[in-house]
Amino acid sequence: MRLEDCRADFPITRDLIYLDSAATSLTPKPVVQTMVEYDLRYRANVGRGVHRLAAVATHRYRDARDAVKSFIGGEDGTLAVTRNTTEAIGAVVAGLAWQRGDRVVTTLLEHHSNLLPWLRLRERGVAVDIVQPDADGRLDLADLEAAVRDETRLVAVTHASNVLGTVLPVREIAGICHDRGTRLLVDGAQSVPHLPVDVADIGCDYFCFSGHKMLGPTGTGGLWMRRPDLEPLFVGGGAVESVTAGGYTLAPGEQRYEAGTPPIAGIIGLARATAYLREIGMDTVRRHDERLAARLIDGLAALDGITVMGADAETERIGVVSFTVRGMHPHEVAQVLDEAAAILVRSGHHCCQPLMEHLGLPDGTVRASTYIYNTEEEIDMLIATVEELSRRIV
Ligand SMILES: Cc1ncc(COP(=O)(O)O)c(C=O)c1O
Repeated sequence: MRLEDCRADFPITRDLIYLDSAATSLTPKPVVQTMVEYDLRYRANVGRGVHRLAAVATHRYRDARDAVKSFIGGEDGTLAVTRNTTEAIGAVVAGLAWQRGDRVVTTLLEHHSNLLPWLRLRERGVAVDIVQPDADGRLDLADLEAAVRDETRLVAVTHASNVLGTVLPVREIAGICHDRGTRLLVDGAQSVPHLPVDVADIGCDYFCFSGHKMLGPTGTGGLWMRRPDLEPLFVGGGAVESVTAGGYTLAPGEQRYEAGTPPIAGIIGLARATAYLREIGMDTVRRHDERLAARLIDGLAALDGITVMGADAETERIGVVSFTVRGMHPHEVAQVLDEAAAILVRSGHHCCQPLMEHLGLPDGTVRASTYIYNTEEEIDMLIATVEELSRRIV
């Protein structure tokens, strides 16, 4: 499928300039249709009954789960279905047997969902070492390496920043972790939608992502594990091989992480979303985002009173651009962009308050984030509207 042809699948783009895909992406018609088809034509629970609808639903659900796993190159591991990235990270926190004196290394670039769970572990005697990026949001790998000690059980880093758009060298980080005998969790919430991702190539132990940021439905996500070595978050129906009044044996593989009815239509829809992205090609998606981000950064950086964060041209990035307008609160800018030109952007601290504090931005930023349905004309419209705004202020 050609990128130019996909826009018609996203009816919201007819009336609005949607530049908030880092928060949640739009969903194309084929994904919605696939989910409706499950509900209207073969709705049944999975992994339980033997009747014809149960057989079809089970087959399609498991194929869908495999397709999602394969989309991230995870064939050799185990994929636990979760509601989102936050739940996937929580499942790692809950699934490891922590001991007092253990340490976790993370960074100041993290979304609250990859920071708060570690900070909470302090209550259980686990120390958290937070590596700071420089003033432009760049992480020095030597700092990260120095933070990893003998007691470090896990390093938890984002693959791509949801504020600055910068991509972290997760393969190199995995190398450091393996050399030091510690595990690596990668928060892939912003990378899976926008970059070709291969978890086997990265070499991480846990990889977390959300379906709703990659054209899929809300309420879907995944935790990929190199080895199924985590205690499941829940036990119950669907996750067991055998049960007696005296105890139970959990099922092997993915099933042990699927107690209770999974989001069946959601995972079938998410698999359709991965097929949609494959039809376009993840390299094409990445190049498109890079092109739009570069155009936006160049356009905004040329304006008086506008500061673009982490705008270093050398940095590998996804289509996320944060900026401030001198004399205006980011929420005010977002509101005016909506009212004046139907441009929808995010504003505030983007669930990254410590990073904002570090960057000296207590009110946060305005963030425009792109995806496959955005065009150069939309980016130009954003630049022109911001220019007009900034002129009004001066
Ligand atoms: C980098 C990053 N990690 C984690 C999350 C949390 O994702 P979710 O709300 O889908 O759990 C987000 C959401 O914006 C994110 O950008």
